[in-house]
Amino acid sequence: MSKSAFLSSSIAKKYWMAITGLFLCLFLVGHLLGNLQLILKTGEEGRRAFNEYAYFMSHNIVIKVMSYATYLSILFHAIDGIMLAAQNKKARPVGYAYSKPGGNSSTASRNMAVLGSAIFIFIAIHMSNFWWKAKYSSDPMPLHKITKIVEEESYDPTTGMPLKLQIEYTLALTTKGDYTPLVRKNTMNNQEQVYAKIQDGTKIFQANSDIELGEGYKDLHSLTVAFFGQDRTNEGVPANKYAGLAVALYALAMLVLSFHLWHGFSSAFQSLGVNHPRYTPAIRTFGKVFSIIVPLLFAIIPIILFINK
Ligand code: HEM
Repeated sequence: MSKSAFLSSSIAKKYWMAITGLFLCLFLVGHLLGNLQLILKTGEEGRRAFNEYAYFMSHNIVIKVMSYATYLSILFHAIDGIMLAAQNKKARPVGYAYSKPGGNSSTASRNMAVLGSAIFIFIAIHMSNFWWKAKYSSDPMPLHKITKIVEEESYDPTTGMPLKLQIEYTLALTTKGDYTPLVRKNTMNNQEQVYAKIQDGTKIFQANSDIELGEGYKDLHSLTVAFFGQDRTNEGVPANKYAGLAVALYALAMLVLSFHLWHGFSSAFQSLGVNHPRYTPAIRTFGKVFSIIVPLLFAIIPIILFINK
């Protein structure tokens, strides 16, 4: 390959790495803002806010298109990055006699490739932990349900004397914003009356009829907080036995992400040809702040969920 052909393909690769990398930084900000709801809001309000947000994210057409762009960007960024590192290595097979920090692009790109590969593995594991379970797992995801105990007046059929019954209602949150009753259980004799049945994962139908009562929310909130150690057995997801290990690995992955962004953020602007005496130092500073704050906030989420378990 001629030197100019190598350069042009290498420059084109760097350009696309920059575009996809910056797009993924935007994804990180959006994903972080959504996930922060896991720790900023608590109780039923927090659970509801997160499940409604997750529903919106998987049903809004613009967000769906952005999601596909994210998957493609992750693949493209990873493959292009590995090819670029291999190309750099091939162009300089002997290697540098010494490593000059900041001045040795081959070392920097090799480190970026190693860090990037670790992040790629993290994303694959992470998506199998949540995204795959929410969308494609053969086990249906539990719906967002609550139980309420209500005292009801009744009478003893043998004596005719008044009685107070403790009735437990299981209700499902629907996309209309109300809670629809699924089951009524008399806690005195455990007799159950089924009001509704669930079909296709989230559709709620009247029991013994085809009348649709509404659509329920997948309980992604319980799945996530149980993964990081909170016991949600009542919601159908028991706590993860290895939550401590999961939290430690997530924190470690965020440290790796931080190193990757530390070099990657400003380097993306350089690859796009942004070189300005005033803006370049500001971009560098912003990139460093970004590379610390974003992974740190991501890491805090599982830690807080684990501590509050
Ligand atoms: C540590 C805190 C994090 C939590 C609690 C978290 C939680 C989640 C959850 C619950 C989903 C499934 C959403 C759904 O299917 O509706 C998801 C999807 C995803 N996460 Fe994370 N995440 C975290 C960090 C990250 C990081 C740091 C990255 C990237 C480096 C990442 C990349 C992704 C991707 C690519 C998806 C699929 C998104 C989509 O379908 O549009 N996540 N995450």
